[in-house]
Amino acid sequence: MRADADRLPEVVTAPVEAVLCSMGLQVLQPLPRVLGATAAALRPGGALAATIPSTAALTLGDRARWLPVLVTLRTRPRYPNDAVMGRLPGLLGAAGLEPTSSEDRRFGFIVRTEADVRTVLDSLYLPDVEPRRRARADAVAARWVGDELGLSIRRVVAVRRR
Ligand SMILES: C[S@@+](CC[C@H](N)C(=O)[O-])C[C@H]1O[C@@H](n2cnc3c(N)ncnc32)[C@H](O)[C@@H]1O
Repeated sequence: MRADADRLPEVVTAPVEAVLCSMGLQVLQPLPRVLGATAAALRPGGALAATIPSTAALTLGDRARWLPVLVTLRTRPRYPNDAVMGRLPGLLGAAGLEPTSSEDRRFGFIVRTEADVRTVLDSLYLPDVEPRRRARADAVAARWVGDELGLSIRRVVAVRRR
């Protein structure tokens, strides 16, 4: 089913046990309304589990691998909700969702080919990077081939208040 995230209660016919949101909260707008719609779709005691991008679980070696590529891009991934994500626990609370855990984990992605390099760079949210700069970043990132690239993902869980 394809539907707007802030109209969730209109498309779920009965209160649900859980809402899973994979890598969405950083882009779904307006976030307070999306969280309100999520709370409305959940049964009391039901849970929202969401994954969002983070950097907290990256090792020093990971950061050293990322740095030359980000320097070449002259930016880092920027998401539409960057300005409000720091206030996520408060926004969840305001929507009636009690945050119960927030955990950062490192995932190792083995970069085998230059196509893998492009996949990684394509997955970054880089709306303002010119094609020539992107091509230079692809060339710099080619040194990742044969190496493990660290990715950090945060899982946030919040429970709808009874
Ligand atoms: C980073 S992608 C994550 C996609 C997928 N959940 C995954 O984990 O592979 C974010 C997705 O949010 C979708 N999106 C953005 N705003 C939305 C909205 N208001 N309602 C529903 N989906 C939306 C985008 O189309 C995009 O597919």
